[in-house]
Amino acid sequence: MKLTSRTEWKNLKKYAKDIKESEITIRELFDVEKDRIKRMSFELGPMYVDLSKNMVPKIVQDELQCLVEACSIKAWTKKMFSGEKINFTEDRSVLHIALRNVGYKSTKGFYPLSSILMDGTDVMPDVVNTLNRMAEFTDKVRNGIWKGATGKSITSVVNIGIGGSDLGPRMITKALTPFGKEGLEIRFVANVDGTDIEENLKGLNPETTLFIIESKTFTTQETMTNANSAKEWFLKTMKQVDIAKHFVAASTAEKLVSDFGIDTANMFPFWDWVGGRYSSPSAIGLPIMISIGKENYANLLKGYNKMDEHFKSAPISENIPIQMALIGLWYNNFMDMDTYAILPYDQYLERFPAYFQQADMESNGKYVDRDGHKVNYQTGPIVWGEAGTNGQHSFYQLIHQGTKIVPADFIGFKKTHHAIGDHHKKLMANFFAQTEALMNGLSSEELKKQGCEKLLIQHRTFIGNRPTNSILIDELTPESLGMLIALYEHKIFTQGIIWNVNSFDQYGVQLGKVGANQVLKELDTGKVGSHDPSTTELMKRFINK
Ligand code: F6P
Repeated sequence: MKLTSRTEWKNLKKYAKDIKESEITIRELFDVEKDRIKRMSFELGPMYVDLSKNMVPKIVQDELQCLVEACSIKAWTKKMFSGEKINFTEDRSVLHIALRNVGYKSTKGFYPLSSILMDGTDVMPDVVNTLNRMAEFTDKVRNGIWKGATGKSITSVVNIGIGGSDLGPRMITKALTPFGKEGLEIRFVANVDGTDIEENLKGLNPETTLFIIESKTFTTQETMTNANSAKEWFLKTMKQVDIAKHFVAASTAEKLVSDFGIDTANMFPFWDWVGGRYSSPSAIGLPIMISIGKENYANLLKGYNKMDEHFKSAPISENIPIQMALIGLWYNNFMDMDTYAILPYDQYLERFPAYFQQADMESNGKYVDRDGHKVNYQTGPIVWGEAGTNGQHSFYQLIHQGTKIVPADFIGFKKTHHAIGDHHKKLMANFFAQTEALMNGLSSEELKKQGCEKLLIQHRTFIGNRPTNSILIDELTPESLGMLIALYEHKIFTQGIIWNVNSFDQYGVQLGKVGANQVLKELDTGKVGSHDPSTTELMKRFINK
């Protein structure tokens, strides 16, 4: 059935119209719905998720739940978890959940928690085998047993990859800095802009540097260009045979890895059922494991798995990813709000918004549904954000008083890794005060009472009624981070199911890639081919610089 023909959809349209006309506020919802906090806040392990500061009355929440049920979320979840090929445009299973379906014991290493079949074969033996190989390699590097070609231990790791082969490892390594190893530096290179590799090679000693080339396909232009430049830099002082000690890979493409010159004994595989933007807990997580060690990495996977299990088994009304998905969908499809901000109040989560910008926008930025029809409703939102409190001094002005409403996720922690003076209290005071101010605003009556100058009253009035989610977590640890990542992943999945799009392909990225290869040939020869007048002029100016 077409999404917009569903009764639930039509009801939600009507509720949205009523809400816009009635001008009811979120603050008033608290007065009329006495169970609001209880109904709209959720707790799982170290995580408390408060969704109550939203323009979502009970009747809307109920209808949204009926909608997601009518869209068979539970059946689709089962399909994903049981290895069905739900990425049908690429004929692939979507099994990133298998990557964290593991336990860890120091005596036996990583082991599967259960079997997961794909085409009748259990994928778990390969998953744990790779994890244990990664763990063995990690130990050697961290303990200085892995020696470079001249007998020196590794002190710097350079990860080369882009998109899903960069954003995840970069974000997680940064987020878990307090768990990192002293004296072992991890750098990341992604952009094909030579500045990125040039700046990241500065100060490195090839004898003590390890390059990890991460690419699912091992054909991505940016990654291969950077990998080749790294190899050239390395070979200025080292020999071809030394590559085996200084270059390793995470990839699905064994032959291409070997052609590059990497010993396939030092290749950590993953599989086509792991999407790039969901690949951080696969071999792509190698730089993370090297940074934080295998035990902390096991805790990261444990956190992912905890949220996976919750998503799989919790009823819709208690299911945190589903509830977050429904609220996002409500704003996106019924309240005309087409962006949302992710605002982590923790400097270590600086790259978290960028990570979920890819995960969300590459997954659900689709205008064709699973049946190949152009949709007549909005799909994936625009995702952006910044670490608090920095964002407060740039774009929060628009969030508070702009003409657009931007729903925002506030993510904060009870405990900090750096208890310096009252920094953390101040940080969290901002966290609490912002969501309260966004909801309550500041009325002209209040301003008058405060003795505000008459001329300024309009300018200083805040309408309020700006929606926010608050995610309050005990502490930023590998486990809580794994939970947080999986929460957003499953939220994205749920929305994709309702919008009836395939969240697991990314054909939108291909057109630009193919175009760039053609243009590159023309830039090489200096002969501009057949292009529109604008592109022709731009290319000519570049060639004749
Ligand atoms: O940006 C498109 C994309 O295909 C992403 O999905 C992927 O994460 C990235 O490119 C990198 O691809 P690869 O890992 O194959 O180099």
